[in-house]
Amino acid sequence: MQINNHKTRVAKPHLPFGEKREGRLYGKPIISVLQFSREDLEEIFTVAEEMRMMVERVGTFDLLKGKVLACVFYEPSTRTSSSFIAAIERLGGSAIPINEVRYSSVTKGESLPDTVRTLEAYADVIVLRHPETGAAALAAKYCRKPIINAGDGIGEHPTQALLDIFTIREELGRIDGLTVTMLGDLKYGRTVHSLARLLALYDVKLHYVSPDLLRMPPALIEELNQRGVPQTEHRTLDDVLSETDVLYVTRVQKERFENPDEYEQVKDAYVITPETMKRAKPNMVLMHPLPRVSEISIEVDDDPRAAYFRQMEYGLYVRMALLAMVLGKA
Ligand code: CP
Repeated sequence: MQINNHKTRVAKPHLPFGEKREGRLYGKPIISVLQFSREDLEEIFTVAEEMRMMVERVGTFDLLKGKVLACVFYEPSTRTSSSFIAAIERLGGSAIPINEVRYSSVTKGESLPDTVRTLEAYADVIVLRHPETGAAALAAKYCRKPIINAGDGIGEHPTQALLDIFTIREELGRIDGLTVTMLGDLKYGRTVHSLARLLALYDVKLHYVSPDLLRMPPALIEELNQRGVPQTEHRTLDDVLSETDVLYVTRVQKERFENPDEYEQVKDAYVITPETMKRAKPNMVLMHPLPRVSEISIEVDDDPRAAYFRQMEYGLYVRMALLAMVLGKA
C-alpha cells in the first residue's frame, strides 16, 4: 500500500467519441469540498432530487448505460462503496468493485499511480478511498478519468459532506440561519472537516464539542475564521444543545489512534440518549455519518429527529447525481 512519487504525468482531458462536453462537473475529479461554490451545490441537489424521484418511480434507468465505475477501497467501507455501486447500477452502468485491495496487485507492491493508470483503461470514473491524506489528489494527477475522493485518511470525505448538506436541506428545508453542532472526534474525523468547510458557504453558526484530545484542528478553525464563520469550542454538549438545529455526532475512531491509552480515555466521552433528546429542540435533526458504535444509543433510533438512516439513503441520490454530472449526462 504505497504512494510512489513517480514523475508527474500531466493528465490530458479524455473525450470519448460522440460524448457531449457539458456541465460544471463534467470530466472533473472530486477531491475536496473547497472546489465547490454554492451554485455548484444547488445544481448537484437539483439533480439529486431528480434522481430520488426516478428511483422512487422506476428504480433503475439507463442514463449511464455502457459506463463503468471502478470502486477502489484501501480502507473498510459499507455505505460509501455500496452506495456508489448501487448508484452506477441504478443508472444502467456497471461497477468494478475492489473493496479489499488485499486481493489486488496492491499486495504485490503496486503503487497507487500504477493502480489508477490500470483502472482508467477499464473504467470511465474511479472512486477511491485511501488511508493517506492527499492520496486522491495524487491519484488524480496520474489519471485521465475523473477520480472521486471517497475519504483520504483524516483529510476529506467530500461526497459525505455533500450528502450531509442535502440531508439538512431535505429535513429542515434550508441551511442559512442554522446552528450546527459537531460532536465527538473532530480531530481525525474527515467527515466533519469536509462538512465544516462546505457549511462555510452558508450563513451558519458552528459549535464544536469534543474532548480536549480530539479538538477540531486549529488550522481548520482559522481557515473558517478567515471566511467569517462564527465558531465556538466546548467540552460539554449542554453548553449548546438547547440552541442546536443540527447535531452531527461522530464516532471516536479507534483505528486513527497511535496510543491505545488515549483511545480508552475518550472513547465514551459522549453518548446521545433519549434523555439528551428531551433537552433538544423539538425539530432538531440528529445526524451521524455512520458507522456508529456507542455514541448514539439505539433507543434514540425511533425518535423522528434521528435522521442518520435517512441520511444514508440521501447518499444514494447525491452519488447518482455526481456520477451523472461527472460523466456529462446530467
Ligand atoms: N459514512 C461512511 O463513509 O461510511 P462507510 O465507512 O461505511 O463508507
